[in-house]
Amino acid sequence: MVFDLTEEQRMIQEMARNFAQKEVLPKAAELDETSRFPEELVGQMAELGLMGVAVPEEYGGAGMDNICYVIAMEEIARACASTAVIMSVNNSLVCDPILKFGTEEVKKKYLAPLASGRKLGCFGLTEPGAGSDAGSQKTTAVRNSDHYVVNGTKNFITNAPQADACVLFTMTDKEKQHKGITAFILDMNSKGVTVGKHEKKMGIRASATSSIILEEVKIPAENRLGNEGDGFKVAMHTLDGGRIGIAAQAIGIARASLEDALTYAKERKQFGQPIANFQAIQWMLADMATEIDAARLLAYRAAWLKDRKVRHSKESAMAKLYASEVAMRAGVKGIQVHGGYGYIKEYPAERHFRDAKITEIYEGTSEIQRMVISSALLKD
Ligand code: CAA
Repeated sequence: MVFDLTEEQRMIQEMARNFAQKEVLPKAAELDETSRFPEELVGQMAELGLMGVAVPEEYGGAGMDNICYVIAMEEIARACASTAVIMSVNNSLVCDPILKFGTEEVKKKYLAPLASGRKLGCFGLTEPGAGSDAGSQKTTAVRNSDHYVVNGTKNFITNAPQADACVLFTMTDKEKQHKGITAFILDMNSKGVTVGKHEKKMGIRASATSSIILEEVKIPAENRLGNEGDGFKVAMHTLDGGRIGIAAQAIGIARASLEDALTYAKERKQFGQPIANFQAIQWMLADMATEIDAARLLAYRAAWLKDRKVRHSKESAMAKLYASEVAMRAGVKGIQVHGGYGYIKEYPAERHFRDAKITEIYEGTSEIQRMVISSALLKD
């Protein structure tokens, strides 16, 4: 077993860390405060190859492995969790399923601009009545010669207001339940597509979240990802990858809590000495660091399996479950180390805590991750 990063992995870590510290971190508080979409940062990430890290170069990506993707995500999330989720959705939930399930024509038309970051994507699975129960899709797609006519509403869609394309899930045969779900790539400029109001969120406030309303939208049949009825498996496969990205995001947020707490504990003096001298503080820092390392190892393992095309549903769910809960615990401890200063916006500790919470919810709640893990255990 080798724990060293490869040359390429070290290189992307250094590049992403430099970019995140110099360009992203100085803007993070303002982005959170104003809920401004960081268009300029997304443009810079595109230039650095961060919008399609594990997509082959022939399709516009950086042609790296999924461990590189996890490493880069952690660095961006350490600086700004909002910017990180914009990157994560485009990489994992949009580029990855098009790469795996798209025809050569679809890849040329949609994947190259998305993976190079010239265009941005979103993932349309969740509906008002289909959250954890992703199989109960109500959005319909009806075949009409060379196209499908789509009607329905998608909910809580990250990147929707800025997205050029959407990986969309529809019901083509409701009698067949989850086996009647079909996936498409939707051009967001199509007639009949409306983006709903921006949700006001507790955290990741600079990433935009909206509903998408679809009224008599025509999608060409060649935009189908897989066959009719394959959609649920497309969604689950995609989320197996996406959960690795969210684990990495959670690790980055947890690291932000730890690193800010370390800095503060060395500077803040009480009882005539830095509070870092007190064992009560040291123990919190030690627990945070240990858990972050453990979460990172889980995420690297899941990414390593994905690179080897080995089924990794359980390992991705474990990584996301553990990393997101670590991010929450680190967020709580980070505030505690800061005392009263942790509770006010002058310090970033409270932002990390608010940003951490969503990682326990999106791309499958912690309860869903436990279902995925236990169902794999019981099958073994
Ligand atoms: N890969 C391939 N196939 C899979 C699979 C996987 N990971 N998981 C399940 N399947 C297959 C099963 O083998 C089964 O196939 P058959 O019908 O041929 O036997 C089929 O799918 C149904 O499987 P289940 O019976 O396990 O399905 P279920 O209805 O019980 O649901 C679930 C499983 C895990 C709860 C699933 O619905 C789920 O993951 N829900 C959470 C949804 C979610 O994560 N949503 C996130 C929205 S996106 C988002 O959050 C983006 C963002 O904002 C950043």
